[in-house]
Amino acid sequence: MNAPVEGFSKLSKTQKIDWIAHNCTTDPKATKDLLERYWNTDPDVQKLHDEFIENTLTNYYLPFAVAPNFLIDDKLYAIPMAIEESSVVAAASKSAKFWLDKGGFKTEILGTEKVGQVHFIYNGDAEKLRSFFKIVKPELLESVAVITQNMEKRGGGINNIELRDWSEQVEGYYQLHCTFETLDAMGANFINSCLEQFAKTLKEQALLHEAFTQEEKDIEVVMSILSNYVPNCLVKAEVSCPISDLESKDMPADLFAQKFVRAVDIANVEPYRAVTHNKGIMNGIDAVVLATGNDFRAVEAGIHAYAARDGHYSSLTHAKIEEGVFRFWIEIPLALGTVGGLTTLHPLVKLALEILQHPSAKELMRIVAVAGLAQNFAAVRSLVTTGIQKGHMKMHLLNMLNQMGASEEEKVQLVEYFKHHTVTNASVKEALEKIQSR
Ligand code: MEV
Repeated sequence: MNAPVEGFSKLSKTQKIDWIAHNCTTDPKATKDLLERYWNTDPDVQKLHDEFIENTLTNYYLPFAVAPNFLIDDKLYAIPMAIEESSVVAAASKSAKFWLDKGGFKTEILGTEKVGQVHFIYNGDAEKLRSFFKIVKPELLESVAVITQNMEKRGGGINNIELRDWSEQVEGYYQLHCTFETLDAMGANFINSCLEQFAKTLKEQALLHEAFTQEEKDIEVVMSILSNYVPNCLVKAEVSCPISDLESKDMPADLFAQKFVRAVDIANVEPYRAVTHNKGIMNGIDAVVLATGNDFRAVEAGIHAYAARDGHYSSLTHAKIEEGVFRFWIEIPLALGTVGGLTTLHPLVKLALEILQHPSAKELMRIVAVAGLAQNFAAVRSLVTTGIQKGHMKMHLLNMLNQMGASEEEKVQLVEYFKHHTVTNASVKEALEKIQSR
């Protein structure tokens, strides 16, 4: 255990690296070399990355890839993905290609409403608070006019403010439950600025409200913050085809469709499976959310809450067979932005948005939902036919060979060899040793 450090954030980058290298690693020189090797050669680009967060030592790379051939609402996209897991991009691309000649993916925006709340404590008569809220509501809206004017010009702003009573659950607890339209911005700063002003106005006006007793005037604001649960910022994506189109060398079409629907039904009712099923969906969603500079923690939190909205964690996707037609769809909440935040700062995020043909936030919602659906289709398809390991291990082969220190020439030979042989850790090791001993 190393000793605590004082004023670490005030050290220069070189000093920070020096401290870490000497206090937390066994080979300080190797640590310093490694951290410097991952710096960008352009000092301006490096400075930009240094300033995204505090105490930056270097950059942490993730592969940036694209999955092409996604036909979404009759428009073709190559979808950028940032992810470390081998096989995710390959699976997405395979799904995209599969649905390309079957009409592609169809999507629908079911809502774009964002949420924020002022949580406060009021000790007094609830009816008096309700009357006060009616009077103060226009003042609350008026008080944020400076913050909302630009958003309003573009057609967004505040949708509504409601007073909600939670005092039975937590003594004296009420909230202003506010809904917003933030258009192409994720809107976190906009929403939080509005909420903090609402809180201030609420407190000020309560003090002036004559019908309140002294105690009632003393509203205590606990906190003002947006919610990452956005059940009314919702998108649906769907694929469908006649069952006969699902025929493959692995399985007859009828059996495949039945097994697929059953697999989704299982994820609907059984939480252990639902979590893994949804994890596969998030493989696609997070990768696009990250590549486009959006907040994947917010998206994850909101989506999993949505998956448990009935008090039971279940599948985000659904599948049905109706009159010989296979239908497979996803419905998820997504609060995304295509302006502001990292979208204007990170060069690769800018490129990702360019590759996506500069989507609006709504269009990005459609694309992200499709990435999740495609990923789930590929995973469940493998699971109910060949099993997941066949494809997974093939994709993992290069990682294994790199770990085992194979040369470029050996890698080429072994990738060819394992096109026709089963990949396991032991079989790869054995095959590599065989080549090396020749
Ligand atoms: C692995 O990252 C994702 C899967 O486990 C998803 C699933 O089981 O549906 C393959």
